Amino acid sequence: MARIGLIVGSGALNRDLGWQTTGGRETVFGEAAAPLERGRAGAHEIFALARHGRPHRYAPHAVNYRANLRLLADAGVEAVIALNTVGGISDFAVTEALLLPDQIIDYTWGRALTFSAEDDVRHIDFSEPYDARLRAGLLAAGQGAGVDLHDGGVMGVTQGPRLETAAEIQRMARDGCAMVGMTAMPEAVLARELGLPLACVAMVVNPAAGLATRVIDLEEIRQASINAMVRVAGLLDVFFESYVGLD
Ligand code: HPA
Repeated sequence: MARIGLIVGSGALNRDLGWQTTGGRETVFGEAAAPLERGRAGAHEIFALARHGRPHRYAPHAVNYRANLRLLADAGVEAVIALNTVGGISDFAVTEALLLPDQIIDYTWGRALTFSAEDDVRHIDFSEPYDARLRAGLLAAGQGAGVDLHDGGVMGVTQGPRLETAAEIQRMARDGCAMVGMTAMPEAVLARELGLPLACVAMVVNPAAGLATRVIDLEEIRQASINAMVRVAGLLDVFFESYVGLD
């Protein structure tokens, strides 16, 4: 049996895993966005966290990422799957595509981005920000579930909560970003600092700014998230079923 963390962004996971709210949301780093919901998938316990709170109340720059990750670590999870909605930049990042990013460029600023303290400075290796074993497991689960999951791509992370300008997206495309979201950092680096393997499944919910001929429509984004989440739920069913724990 393993304990697996699941960070859910916009939208809900459409699965009844017997969810029960467990504990509070207090940590030594302040309050996490929400208490954890504990569920069961086969042999494993799943601890789901609503990244933005439930109901959705913390904007991307205002999420207490340190408390979120600390709460999951305190629950004893050995791995974390993060779900993120993104705007698509690369040709393959079409609306409703599911992507498994392998790299990050961090454009955020002013966020609490480390657990380092004055007498505890952490210089961690972050060359490969996402965990290879989890990524392989997710890719295999995609094949098993018949869900297309694009392997790789650079996740550009912007500050939000506004969407980007067209020029910012052009710059990000030149930098090599395949997708743009607002929450993958500092989440990924904090997990790494805690020694928690993390992988991200990104759901493309709109073409990034300036890449479509029309203004980004928030209702279309909402609908695309709902549609993508249905396929993510199918993918996770197989992922959890086939998950082999660390020991
Ligand atoms: N930009 C940044 N974050 C996002 C987007 C976007 O276009 N779509 C969903 N999350």
